[in-house]
Amino acid sequence: MKKAILLFCSVFLLWNCAPTTVEHQQAAGLDPETEVKIAEILKQMTLREKAGQMLNIGLPTILKGDYWSERDRAEFDPVKFRKFIQKVGVGSIHNTPGYLADPNAWFQIVKTIQDSAMLKTRLGIPVLYGIDNIHGANYIKGSVLLPQQIALAATWNRALCERSAEITSYESRAASLPWNFNPNIDIAANPLWGRIAESFGEDPYLVAEMGAAYTKGSHGTSLKNPKQTAVCLKHFIGYGAGKNGKDRANALIPENSLRQYFLPPFEKAIAAGAKGVMISSNAVNGIPCHINKTYITDILKGELQFQGVVISDFSDVEFLVKAHHSAENLREATKLAVNAGLDLLMNPYDAKVVDHIVDLANNKEISMARIDDAVTRVLRLKFDLNLFEVPYSSPKEYPEFASQKHSEENYQMASEAITLLKNNENVLPLDASKKVLVTGYAAHSINMLNGAWSRTFLGRDTRYNDPTKLTILDAIQKEVGKANLNYVAGTNYTEDLNTSTAVKMAKEADCIVVCLGEIPATEKPSDINELALPKAQQELVKKLAVYNKPLVLVLVQGRPRIIREIEPLADAVVMAYLPGDEGGRALSDILYGKTNPSGKLPYTYPKYSGNALPYFHKKTDIRDVNWAFDGFYPQYEFGQGLSYTSFAYSEVRTDKDSLSSSETINFEVNVQNTGNRAGKEVVQLFLKDLIATVSPDVKRLVRFEKINLQPGETQTVSFQLQAKDFASIGLENKWLVEPGSFQLTVGGHPKKRIQKEVFIKN
Ligand code: BGC
Repeated sequence: MKKAILLFCSVFLLWNCAPTTVEHQQAAGLDPETEVKIAEILKQMTLREKAGQMLNIGLPTILKGDYWSERDRAEFDPVKFRKFIQKVGVGSIHNTPGYLADPNAWFQIVKTIQDSAMLKTRLGIPVLYGIDNIHGANYIKGSVLLPQQIALAATWNRALCERSAEITSYESRAASLPWNFNPNIDIAANPLWGRIAESFGEDPYLVAEMGAAYTKGSHGTSLKNPKQTAVCLKHFIGYGAGKNGKDRANALIPENSLRQYFLPPFEKAIAAGAKGVMISSNAVNGIPCHINKTYITDILKGELQFQGVVISDFSDVEFLVKAHHSAENLREATKLAVNAGLDLLMNPYDAKVVDHIVDLANNKEISMARIDDAVTRVLRLKFDLNLFEVPYSSPKEYPEFASQKHSEENYQMASEAITLLKNNENVLPLDASKKVLVTGYAAHSINMLNGAWSRTFLGRDTRYNDPTKLTILDAIQKEVGKANLNYVAGTNYTEDLNTSTAVKMAKEADCIVVCLGEIPATEKPSDINELALPKAQQELVKKLAVYNKPLVLVLVQGRPRIIREIEPLADAVVMAYLPGDEGGRALSDILYGKTNPSGKLPYTYPKYSGNALPYFHKKTDIRDVNWAFDGFYPQYEFGQGLSYTSFAYSEVRTDKDSLSSSETINFEVNVQNTGNRAGKEVVQLFLKDLIATVSPDVKRLVRFEKINLQPGETQTVSFQLQAKDFASIGLENKWLVEPGSFQLTVGGHPKKRIQKEVFIKN
């Protein structure tokens, strides 16, 4: 074993209760004045009032009708309303009213709740409203529907991601909704996972950078500004690593992997100010995350010094009984969850957990210190959001809600996300004067461009689509004119509809744009048993290819569905992800050359289901030392993405060849646009530890920057690295650097990266 330099061994303060001295509070980033106010309220609260603050219910629980029934307006049930708002004094509410409410309707809902909570209860504590505004303020009528997170990750543009969160916050607050159950900073470790669209992809560094950018945009300079919302990072931890790729499946994550890959995004977003964390519904190593005290109390609240609210996922305390079989009844489940460190229990339908908390505290099975910690955190977030002063705001104060400006920015985000994966003989851009056949399941659907969490949970309802938004077909038709275009769907998601008509039309066309993809889905409905795109959709491509016409394959999907058999039949492949309401327009502008594509894949696109690894796997995963037939051959590599121009990298240099663990190193490279049109390039810097006791990753991303270059222009891109960038988790499960050689590799295309070696001294 080599001599190792241990990093980050500063003593972590294990604040499992609220820091009490002013010094501790300031050191923890808390506002002492607010802490005094919280302590004053706590002193006056009864145990039952405290337990009430720890409950989050679903809005339909206090509306007339059944929880899941569809409504056309929100009518409070006076008995239920009084019970939950005044008697229980519920701390938090989430979910929609069961129809798509506009900002005015939301305002009425929130105002009614807040007026009652603040004027008709003993202590006048406002309710904390949380909502899943996943890609834009998607549950508010009229709001802009931005690209899903996976598409934002594909922009590799932190500023755009930050702006997406700003717009989401603004439009969310226009409806008086101050807390957003987003961003999703799960590591998408399994390509089968149905919620990849909601994530920033597979890479811990990219996820961490985007998660922090999102947090910054959501919080702005102060959460007291009623244009900003608080984030809720989710899901802590390992949701995207389910062993079998199914929703909420058990993940196996050894401590070194947890620390190396899964924790850094949370650490970074918490450092950026995140004040909410939602616990993952799955189990890790067989332990349901909701009862994992080591994860929640020791690591999240201790090591990461998280001072915000830890909320359960939907019904997850109940699921400890029903799904995990880890607790015999709800009382035991509540005890396990609260003692593990849960502050707010999302028990949508009733207040049973409140009774249990009271009983458990009276029987000393949950300590009062733990309950006070939980309530302190809930009240702290309410103060941080200034809800005691401004519990709701008039929609009139939000003139930019659904504005043209926001739509244009939305278009910009989609344009920078869409990724050109293949372009044989520059078949793209297409010529608008040529006759085109547009076909495929995804060609004429706004719902598919948006995916789940779009007006409804699954996003499949066409009633709520904005008729002014263009599908891919609409946008191409606008570009080439009706006479130059033929359209037929060809298939639905899994079945042939009219592929024979598509084939006839292909004969008449000069080129073919075939748009394939996934039915909108999330959570359980997004489970699949097969990573390949459904057969019927692939067959369509096979049939269309017989005429040897230029064929462009457009993929409208969250996760990377296998296309091995049809990929060679396509001259160009464009990954659209789930680009949102402006995606049709943005895609057409790329196909016809108005926009130069600049997206890069935020995950590895597998070619074979039996060869699905993240790009940062270990050499031993593929063991191609002695056996020539084995190896790593994805369809497309992480970070891949072409442009209509070309870039050349040269003159890689560092200011030193070796450094000690206390030094920094400056890395520079020249990037030139060698083509004849302006373009954006993502400069990606990867690092490889050549020898490490714990087998090193083949490479990992350590820096990136997106730059804009005019034809012929050269820019020098600099990155500063510190010793901790060279560290990985060692045998003792701590970050350390082992002295020795490291390889830095820079480029914008996996096949064209250039290298430089540096040495870390003792
Ligand atoms: C999802 C969460 C979501 C919550 C509240 C759960 O089913 O897993 O991501 O925030 O519901 O809607």
